[in-house]
Amino acid sequence: MSEKYILALDQGTTSSRAILFDKYGQICHVAQKEFTQLYPHPGWVEHDAEEIWASQFSVLAETMAKASITTSDIAAMGITNQRETTVVWDRNTSRPIYNAIVWQDRRTASFCDRLKADGLAPMIQQKTGLVPDAYFSATKLKWILDNVSGAREKAVKGELAFGTIDCWLSWKLTNGKVHVTDVSNASRTMLMNIETCEWDTDLLKLFDIPASVLPEIIPSSRVYAVSESVVKSANIPLAGIAGDQQAALFGQQCTSPGMVKNTYGTGCFMLMHTGDKIVHSANNLLTTVAWKINNRVEYAVEGSIFIGGAVVQWLRDGLHLIRSSADIEELASKVKDTDGVYMVPAFAGLGAPHWNQHARGAVFGLTRGTTKAHIARACLESIAYQTRDVLKAMESDAGLPIRELRVDGGATINNLLMQFQCDVLQVPVVRPEVYETTALGAAYLAGLGVGYWESIADIQQQWKAAKHFFPQHTADEMAPYIKGWNRAVKASIAWADA
Ligand code: G3P
Repeated sequence: MSEKYILALDQGTTSSRAILFDKYGQICHVAQKEFTQLYPHPGWVEHDAEEIWASQFSVLAETMAKASITTSDIAAMGITNQRETTVVWDRNTSRPIYNAIVWQDRRTASFCDRLKADGLAPMIQQKTGLVPDAYFSATKLKWILDNVSGAREKAVKGELAFGTIDCWLSWKLTNGKVHVTDVSNASRTMLMNIETCEWDTDLLKLFDIPASVLPEIIPSSRVYAVSESVVKSANIPLAGIAGDQQAALFGQQCTSPGMVKNTYGTGCFMLMHTGDKIVHSANNLLTTVAWKINNRVEYAVEGSIFIGGAVVQWLRDGLHLIRSSADIEELASKVKDTDGVYMVPAFAGLGAPHWNQHARGAVFGLTRGTTKAHIARACLESIAYQTRDVLKAMESDAGLPIRELRVDGGATINNLLMQFQCDVLQVPVVRPEVYETTALGAAYLAGLGVGYWESIADIQQQWKAAKHFFPQHTADEMAPYIKGWNRAVKASIAWADA
């Protein structure tokens, strides 16, 4: 194959990125653009889907310009994306009929409470692997159809299309030629049956969703279209899609059962590969499709934490305690511990394993001596404690201890956080050489789809550890800190439920 690169589009919650990878899985060029976060009401989070597309397209063009390449140098393009975020658009005009409702949005929480009160949780969990929560797309799509004037009538007439962000980008890249989503993204809608990997008619009925709005579910690695909107004369094969967390699992080469990764992005998402087995969690974790390659569907168990790196962004943009996200390490290092301060960053409720839609952020243990360094450290540590809660649930589901945690995402450059993470887990934490594993996973899926890489074995040897963190404190030394965290979480849930 003469083409030199694979291009990955990584459409995240706060920024759009385009990354060019070579045959060795190394990053050649990156472009990134942040876009607007909209908070129209407390608990609501929206994005302008047109701005998402514009930012994604601009970084795509920028990366190609930086690399001085043309479309003919690119063997294939892969897409990975913030999951669950819901877009509905007019099929004729390609105009969204409402802002994208973001995965963090809580407006449908009370509807989800009703589903639980009606005893529907076991059925939903059995079919989809998910717990009824405002997090997933189904209730967001229902909200748009119920609340945007004329939407339901148009949907019934087949004039509207629904999609998660992968679907929206594929539509835009092909000028509306394809309306598809991959099976990993579809598994996050709460509308797909994870056994059949098809839309589930009972769930469509329950959520009152007309089948005409739904995209076709396709595998994660296969040429499904060519991009028409980049350069008309030389089209790039679109050959890979996966939700960002599944893509990171693939990029980390967690492709054998029992392997675990944690991605520190806006939220934190820990996934354990479970092979072709659907493992239903007994500890409030999710079961999700990892990917479908060569007709084989593989699964994962997931612990989703809604606020990870976002707590650092809040310190930067909300409280203005730091100027850039990287400054948190220096500020938090000014104190040896939080002096008993705990931050529970439940800004969007609590995800796994607590699943409390109504919990809100809280700080405990303040004294007259508390400084901004203590607060910064408590915010940082909250990321590690939440990760521990999920890891413990995962170990209990798996019935065996997790031997190492592969980590990736922006916050993993923070050595203070990684060391603390390792100490609270008492498990080695491994940071890989290529830390852009989400984009790398999408690149691998696209590359496999066009034969740029022959097989999974071909790419497996590319994964290399850059740094191992080992515990510097014993479990006994860490126990009082963990106890304090558990009390803080309990108190914040009690506040929400009072
Ligand atoms: O499920 C939400 C997740 O896909 C968002 O990922 O990287 O944008 O925090 P990220």
